[in-house]
Amino acid sequence: MAGCGGDLSALDPAGPFAESIARLWWAMLLGAIPLFALVVGLFLLTVLRPGFGRRLSAKGWIVAGGLALPLPVLTALLGYALFQGEYRLGRPGSEALRVEARARMGQWSFAYPDTPGAPVTVGVLHLPAGRLVEITVTSEDVIHSFWVPRLGGKIDAIPGHETRLRLLAEAPGTFGGVCAEYCGVSHTDMRFTVRAHEAGRYAAELAKAETGAE
Ligand code: CUA
Repeated sequence: MAGCGGDLSALDPAGPFAESIARLWWAMLLGAIPLFALVVGLFLLTVLRPGFGRRLSAKGWIVAGGLALPLPVLTALLGYALFQGEYRLGRPGSEALRVEARARMGQWSFAYPDTPGAPVTVGVLHLPAGRLVEITVTSEDVIHSFWVPRLGGKIDAIPGHETRLRLLAEAPGTFGGVCAEYCGVSHTDMRFTVRAHEAGRYAAELAKAETGAE
């Protein structure tokens, strides 16, 4: 339960993309509870009541419990997850503000091609609140993973390749970000901070932002 709050909680969403993930999580939890109860209940009945279940043949149990039960549940979940995934990745060339995230062992740096004069910031990602942002993610060395749990999903940072992820912070604030793929001894150093500024003050805040230590 300690993971349900705080800076890095995926269950405390601060924008629509993270919210869609949290919703899926809650739906899966609520769906898992009756299914778990059903399986444990059947197990207890077979243990406590000898002869229970004999009326259904072995084949019948496999068809009912191994096909009829999981197939519709997993198909529905897969469909919903694919739909949500497309929603979070978005389409290239949309109205989003572009930001580039570059990973290298022990460090995240961020560039702002749509904001003239903006510095490259290290360890701090600046966003305008209330505006759709498309992060282009890449890596200089090994595979990392970009993740701001309160704002959106994870996306791998792959050397020689660009991946995209959309984020939206509903209100100004500070959020935690991490590398979500084990990438060596400096993995734990790859925390970063996301600052969402009021949209009107974004360019000014970004212009005076510190570049950060190289
Ligand atoms: Cu970079 Cu873990």
